[in-house]
Amino acid sequence: MDNTNGSLLNFKGYNFLKSFVDIEKLEKMEDFEIRDDDVFIVTYPKSGTTWAQQILSSIYFEGHRNSTENTRTVQRAPFFEYNYFKLDYVKMPSPRIFSSHLPYYLVPKGLKSKKAKIVYLYRNPKDVLISFFHFSKLISIIEATYTIEHYLDIFLDGKVHGSRWFDHIRGWYEHRHDFNIMFLSYEEMKKDLRSSVLKICSFLEKDLSEEDVITVVRQATFQTMKSDPRANYEQITKYKLGVNKKEGTFMRKGTVGDWKHYLTVEQNERFDMIFKRNMEKFPLKFIWDINED
Ligand code: A3P
Repeated sequence: MDNTNGSLLNFKGYNFLKSFVDIEKLEKMEDFEIRDDDVFIVTYPKSGTTWAQQILSSIYFEGHRNSTENTRTVQRAPFFEYNYFKLDYVKMPSPRIFSSHLPYYLVPKGLKSKKAKIVYLYRNPKDVLISFFHFSKLISIIEATYTIEHYLDIFLDGKVHGSRWFDHIRGWYEHRHDFNIMFLSYEEMKKDLRSSVLKICSFLEKDLSEEDVITVVRQATFQTMKSDPRANYEQITKYKLGVNKKEGTFMRKGTVGDWKHYLTVEQNERFDMIFKRNMEKFPLKFIWDINED
């Protein structure tokens, strides 16, 4: 175990946010009892976790969908490894939805029974990098870094929360046959939210009425989520994660291709070279620009 930097804790090769974990709990994570109807949202940080949390919460919970309940989205689909709200996961009623950034080799062994479901949401890593860069400036528990160049270095080296992006996605994809898992991209959701919601419903075997599908989609648009206090993380960033700067927001831009406004030609070429080296023959498609097919 080594401390990669002040805000991170490395456990079995993976970087956690130090403030929210303790070794004893991490040691027990793999033995956590999984129920057949559990669902895990798995993402690398800044890939649209909150978005998936909102969609699945609206699919599963009528009160969430119709805004008749006031429970925060992150409490409806709490983080498995970061129990910010000190919920009793063992006593939580079914169906339980968990969110997680864990790599495939640290999740509860019970997920390998292939009954519980996993939705793996991924995003093009240049946009992940830029989203992450801004997030590090917003949140005080993550060490802020004020140049893209520096953030690029630590991101590519995996010296960030979530470790190396390449290892996360490759690990999950290469071990997909061990799990009941669907892969979906942020960009696909951005291009056609309704179709993505229907795909998720089909995987989860949730047969929603047309009216409910329309509501789920409406609840999950960027604008709705930005103005919905249950979904926009304003409270959690302020009270749990600690906001550094007043001007930043968690629901920042929510677009595809924002990296083009930040990476220099040289940085982009360097990224492409490392991406190519690490993702050779990797079959999932990445969309770098919203106008791409
Ligand atoms: P940006 O920083 O690029 O805006 P996570 O939830 O994994 O931390 O990811 C956060 C990113 O997802 C942020 O990206 C945020 O704006 C984006 N996001 C959250 N809800 C979204 C939505 N409904 N539509 C599009 N993007 C969304």
